[in-house]
Amino acid sequence: MTQLQRKYGILTLIFEKTRVHLDVLGFFPSRQILGNFGTYLKALPIAFLHKKTAKQTRNNPTPPIKSCLTPQFSFTPQRHHPANSCLLPISSLHGAAVTTVEGVGSIKNRINPIQERLAKCHGSQCGFCTPGMVMSIYALLRNHVKPSMEQIISALDGNLCRCTGYRPIIDSYASFAKEQTCCQLRGTGQCCLDQEELGCSSSAGVRVRYIELIKLFILTFLKTYKSLSFPPQRIVQEQQRKTLIFCSKRTTWISPSTLKELLELKAKYPKAPLVVGNTSLGLKKNDCDAYHPVILHPLRIPEMQVFSITDDGIVIGAACCLAQLRDILMETIPKLPEEKTKIYQALLQQLRTLAGEQIRSMASLGGHVVSRGSAWDLNPILSAGKSVLNLASDGGKRQIFLNDQFLAGHKHADIEPKEVIVSVLIPYSTKDEFISAFRQADRQKNAFSIVNAGLRVLFSPGTDTIVDLSILYGGIGSTTLSARKSCEKLIGRQWNDQMLSEACKLVLEEISLPPSASGGKVEYRRTLLVSFLFRFYLEVLHGLHQMIKCVSKAFYNYCSDLKTHSCLQDVDPGQSPQDPVGRPVMHQSGIKHTTGEAVYIDDIRPVDGELSLAVVTSVKAHAKIKSIDISEALQVPGVINVVTAKDVPGKNGNDEEEAFAKDKVICVGQIICAVVAETLTQAKCGAKKVKIAYEDLQPVLTIKDAIKHNSYITKERKLEKGDIEKGFKSADKIIEGELHMGGQEHFYLETNSVLVIPRMEDKEMDVYVSTQHATDVQKLVASALNLQSNKIMCHTKRVGGAFGGKITKPSFFAVIAAVAANKTGRPVRFALERDMDMLITGGRHPFFGKYKVGFMKDGRIMAADFQCYINGGCTKDESELVIEYIVLKVDNAYNIPNLRVRGHACKTNLPSNTAFRGFGFPQAGLFVETCIVAVATKTGLPHEKVREINMYKGVNRTAFKEKFDAENLWKCWKECLVKSDYHSRKTKVEEFNRKNYWKKKGIAIIPMKFSVGFNATYFHQAGALVHIYLDGSVLVTHGGIELGQGIHTKMLQIASRELKIPLSYIHFCETSSTTVPNGKYTAGSVGTEINARAVQDACQILWKRLDPIRRKNPKGKWEDWVSDVSVSSRGYVTDMNWESKKGHAFPYFLYGAACSEVEIDCLTGAHKNIRTDIVMDASFSINPAIDIGQIEGAFIQGVGLYTLEEIYFSPEGEQLTLSPDTYKIPAVCDIPEQFHVYLLPNSCNSIAIYSSKGVGEAGFFLGSSVFFAIRDAVAAARKERGLPLDFTLNSPLTVERIRMACDDIFTKMVTVFPFLL
Ligand SMILES: Cc1cc2nc3c(=O)[nH]c(=O)nc-3n(C[C@H](O)[C@H](O)[C@H](O)COP(=O)(O)OP(=O)(O)OC[C@H]3O[C@@H](n4cnc5c(N)ncnc54)[C@H](O)[C@@H]3O)c2cc1C
Ligand code: FES
Repeated sequence: MTQLQRKYGILTLIFEKTRVHLDVLGFFPSRQILGNFGTYLKALPIAFLHKKTAKQTRNNPTPPIKSCLTPQFSFTPQRHHPANSCLLPISSLHGAAVTTVEGVGSIKNRINPIQERLAKCHGSQCGFCTPGMVMSIYALLRNHVKPSMEQIISALDGNLCRCTGYRPIIDSYASFAKEQTCCQLRGTGQCCLDQEELGCSSSAGVRVRYIELIKLFILTFLKTYKSLSFPPQRIVQEQQRKTLIFCSKRTTWISPSTLKELLELKAKYPKAPLVVGNTSLGLKKNDCDAYHPVILHPLRIPEMQVFSITDDGIVIGAACCLAQLRDILMETIPKLPEEKTKIYQALLQQLRTLAGEQIRSMASLGGHVVSRGSAWDLNPILSAGKSVLNLASDGGKRQIFLNDQFLAGHKHADIEPKEVIVSVLIPYSTKDEFISAFRQADRQKNAFSIVNAGLRVLFSPGTDTIVDLSILYGGIGSTTLSARKSCEKLIGRQWNDQMLSEACKLVLEEISLPPSASGGKVEYRRTLLVSFLFRFYLEVLHGLHQMIKCVSKAFYNYCSDLKTHSCLQDVDPGQSPQDPVGRPVMHQSGIKHTTGEAVYIDDIRPVDGELSLAVVTSVKAHAKIKSIDISEALQVPGVINVVTAKDVPGKNGNDEEEAFAKDKVICVGQIICAVVAETLTQAKCGAKKVKIAYEDLQPVLTIKDAIKHNSYITKERKLEKGDIEKGFKSADKIIEGELHMGGQEHFYLETNSVLVIPRMEDKEMDVYVSTQHATDVQKLVASALNLQSNKIMCHTKRVGGAFGGKITKPSFFAVIAAVAANKTGRPVRFALERDMDMLITGGRHPFFGKYKVGFMKDGRIMAADFQCYINGGCTKDESELVIEYIVLKVDNAYNIPNLRVRGHACKTNLPSNTAFRGFGFPQAGLFVETCIVAVATKTGLPHEKVREINMYKGVNRTAFKEKFDAENLWKCWKECLVKSDYHSRKTKVEEFNRKNYWKKKGIAIIPMKFSVGFNATYFHQAGALVHIYLDGSVLVTHGGIELGQGIHTKMLQIASRELKIPLSYIHFCETSSTTVPNGKYTAGSVGTEINARAVQDACQILWKRLDPIRRKNPKGKWEDWVSDVSVSSRGYVTDMNWESKKGHAFPYFLYGAACSEVEIDCLTGAHKNIRTDIVMDASFSINPAIDIGQIEGAFIQGVGLYTLEEIYFSPEGEQLTLSPDTYKIPAVCDIPEQFHVYLLPNSCNSIAIYSSKGVGEAGFFLGSSVFFAIRDAVAAARKERGLPLDFTLNSPLTVERIRMACDDIFTKMVTVFPFLL
């Protein structure tokens, strides 16, 4: 049937027959881009995209894993398309060479420099996103051998990484750029990070080796590429070009080869869609009307791929992809007179930020125009620019305008069902014409616009009198809307302030947005309407050579000037070269991450008889379960059984939480039952058929509700220091205020996954699970099955990101799969899809804090009374610990002499919130810093002064009377002031703000005292098992789990030092309850340290045992001495006594400081992170590359919490942000343009192994420096506008909050016309 060449992951696909029957056509294969890609991959005989590709696509956001397509049609220039595999209909791949990550390189054959550089530059942590990064750069380099930095960053803008903070990824690929970048020789033999230039203590040796590596890469790279091409004989066959037909039971896919044929087919099947990129139609596949019996695929039609420059403008084929359009415009603009290119420049600006590169590479211009999505960015500008659609049908050709009537779908202005768009004419602009495009999204790139606009004005020659005006907006209605009537009224007016004022009023009247408009943010969206209009007004004025304070277009070139820098540490010059401790050793699995060979749960091959599982979850926040009807579900073909609470032989969960809801549901998303079937599709189909009847109960959803109903999870936690009443009495002033903070999704890229395999004997079970706490999984599964723990073997090779979200929850998923396996006697796999994972699991606790602070005129805080509340959700989970940590850590770096803190964990009917990196400190820290800012505002003192005045000094005691020395806190603070050049940059920021009205800069420096570890000894225990085999090789196992934090790499470094053998002798296999029992959870920044002690102990015992043998044979080698085994465990002792309000709550403190500078656009609320400098007291780092990676990754996650990530719930308690479409984590465009991380030199930590410190969480809170820098910028805007400065900004500081806080005439206009709201 098909010719399929499968060679190392590079496939060429030609369907030889012109009519092909497939069991499944492979169309609409998945639930959106996140969905299950399995349908066509698994069902078709030609599963040519590697399973890895499928897996990553299924679980990922705008999925980072791409295949790279190489269409080799004779009529198109060869172009390589990175693609989202879940949106690719298999039939569209005829004539394409498909390369997957395996085709790029593998350990078995040869790794590609793209893979090697990423691994060696520490660009992967958990590794789950890594193959996607590789594929994106691979596709880029196939199209552009020497890309610019802008192209490199663009290529990555559709990929998400939750671990790294992107800096090392960009660094590793900067070496491919044509510009001189970091670590490339500048002809001087010096690296830009050399000591002399930046005064940092980087290891020159490491740099030199790096440069050598890069040289080597370039050679091998060029060699590798030559081999990848489409077979010539296939190109010849393709040139014969016949119509291809693919039929399945329901759908026929026809790919004609000529326009004539296409038009005949369109006449015959007028309802048939033309599918090109499938990025619009593919998204609707779950809709009832999404079924199409016939689909036409016009990609092979030459007329639809044209590009020509005509007298009227540029003509682009409708089947050209948006990336092609961008490249064409980039090449063409410089060749044309500037006045002719205004619309092209505006289009280019939109194309730079529209979606990610994978979507731009597949989505077609025709598809974009015809699908007319409300937030589609090109339609407003194409319409404003009077673009023309060249249509054809079997009746002939005609042209229509792509105008507002067409976009509104008016019959007289629309294309006929028989017609197709062959190409689009985008006319030149003229001298007297101005055209601009605007868009504002939640995130700068890879996010749908909240509002976009296309605006055009034509003046009477040589005047400022309006002859023609077009204003179109997207994101407001169901499609692009035109302010046509307003424009008509403004014709003949002059371009001046009166006209602007009239225009704003008219537009607000004409473009209506009711208060209940879907998408919410009504005031903000209405403000954007006039803000964009004003920006256009300014740009045109500028064009008319009038004096203005303009918002420069350079504002949008966010990442083009990216400078990153991370400073490694020197090791002792006397340290043996073989000893890897303290050196930036590559992640143990780094290469496997990049080649896609690293195995996650979903990569484990299906086992014999394996079943899939789908769960049925509650749709009510609080209700009694009246009945569960599974009868219809059991009728679904392939469904084997339905599992409910009744099937649990032992305990259904733990004392706090049920695995299956039994009589009552307490949140939306709670699991009620599970359907097991032969395939996942069948299981999901079965789950849909389960009918549950509820009896509603009153839910409690918010912190406010909980306070009202006195609904709490634990007793109040309280700490007091000094005499608070006296403190307030002695203060000059007292202020009171509040802070609200939203929660945060973990958004680990590997969703919760478990595979349970019952063994043949003694009811034993193997549980392969993505968890941070294998012991809890073992315990809960054993108790659910009424077995002893010794029957349950838990295995965790690696976890694709966790961040605290996989401490408690995986145990429940494992129980569900295990009960199903127990009932059916067959292996069961349960891998959650992204939306289910987000629905079922909670995240970081939303926070509400009330403060009362008494202070002196000189900024000294005399007393503070804090009330802290968190929304714990429906069960206890980790909420008790989180509120305790908030109470214990809320002082951060400040010595408040009289302090009272009270903490409450609220019980509500939301999914139970759980542990998250920082365990409450990110909330507590933001809260106290908000108080500091409030004091600084009231006293009029610089913020950094108020911070310094109140910071701990010398040896001190915390509120819980723990002694510590603040010396390193001050060292970090001072070092950060110097490294960031804070004072002179602050002056420059002020100068900038004086000169700019609509753009403001802000700068903030934040100190940090972070307590590492847990407040109970129990959590600080670990075990290790070290085997030495007869051949001298060593196998290390321990209780810690690899979450991407590089724990195993560090353990191998430690074993290498202790046993005095090279790293190559040592291997780590997996974390398993069979080798190291009773492991504690890997979290709290101490996972590495406590396990390291255990590994060290074990190695030292072995080394001692070898002593007599070594003495007997001192000249012998390691292999001659070796014997075998040891077990060890040891940990920190901590405890906190809440009765006496004192204790040794944490093993030690870690200090840091960060300075961030931002720039905000007061008109839209957009901000860019200009620069961040972090100084962290990591003491002696066991692996500085890994630790810097942790600091950067945590920092960017913090930036996400404080500025970007927002969770919405419906009034009924249903989470609405369940996908990467609606929930935005930081992408590559969100990192600071200059990002510097320094480890504080000459610091030590006597209680930790090799004097190291755990840095896994601490960097997170430093992300708040961006929050306070934005606040600083907003304050500058408000000051200029004469607005009060004691305003409160809640978190996250989204574009909407920033814009609305920069209150001005436009925000007022929106409220001046309230009748429209
Ligand atoms: C993850 C994601 C992110 C996105 N982000 C953005 C964004 O930020 N900004 C933005 O503007 N857009 C965004 N989009 C939308 C994207 O621009 C459109 O989906 C895309 O342009 C549609 O093109 P297509 O080739 O994939 O259309 P298809 O899905 O293949 O087809 C769409 C429709 O167009 C019709 N059609 C296609 N070609 C023709 C033709 N020549 N003649 C007549 N009818 C035709 C088809 O019949 C079909 O009804 C995003 C999409 C996705 C999936
Ligand atoms: S390394 Fe990128 S998501 Fe973990």
